[in-house]
Amino acid sequence: MKERTLIIIKPDALQRNLLGEVVTRFERKGLKIVGLKMFSIDDTLIAEHYEHHKDKPFFEDLKKFMQSSPVVVMVLEGHSAINAVRLIVGPTTGREADAGSIRGDFSMSKGHNIVHASDSKETAEQEIYRFFNEDELFNYQKLDFSAVYDESERQELGGA
Ligand code: RTP
Ligand code: MG
Repeated sequence: MKERTLIIIKPDALQRNLLGEVVTRFERKGLKIVGLKMFSIDDTLIAEHYEHHKDKPFFEDLKKFMQSSPVVVMVLEGHSAINAVRLIVGPTTGREADAGSIRGDFSMSKGHNIVHASDSKETAEQEIYRFFNEDELFNYQKLDFSAVYDESERQELGGA
């Protein structure tokens, strides 16, 4: 099923010149970029986005880190994109993530782990509209569509 998911490319990735590398990995997989911008996360958005961590001892550090530079937010679209992206990103702690995943290849840390990716349909929907307005998301045809997906998948995705 066609899904959209939110990615945040975190300050450690920008500081370490990994922005292009991270975007390239998603592009090469066959995911479609339907939204992309540089963004400073304010206190309200941090509180909303990390609501589930607000009482944890690391929350202040996490907030400081996520506000230490702009981030790049991105919406990716594709067949079962939420799970496909989580697999590319790897588990939270970089030093425990499989080689080949973004965190496995580029992170040694739990906090500084390069990217955020939505973890379910519900959070993806909420997170996308937390960071993007409708007019910042794009519907367009990609010429590689019929190479990326087989016939039945293309029908399932509605031909776009
Ligand atoms: P994300 O939401 O960023 O994709 O990461 P995740 O699902 O793998 O991890 P989650 O449990 O949602 O935690 C969100 C982010 O909080 C930071 N964190 N630090 N120091 C710590 O113990 C700790 N635990 C979590 C990480 O940056 C994590 O990605
Ligand atoms: Mg999470």
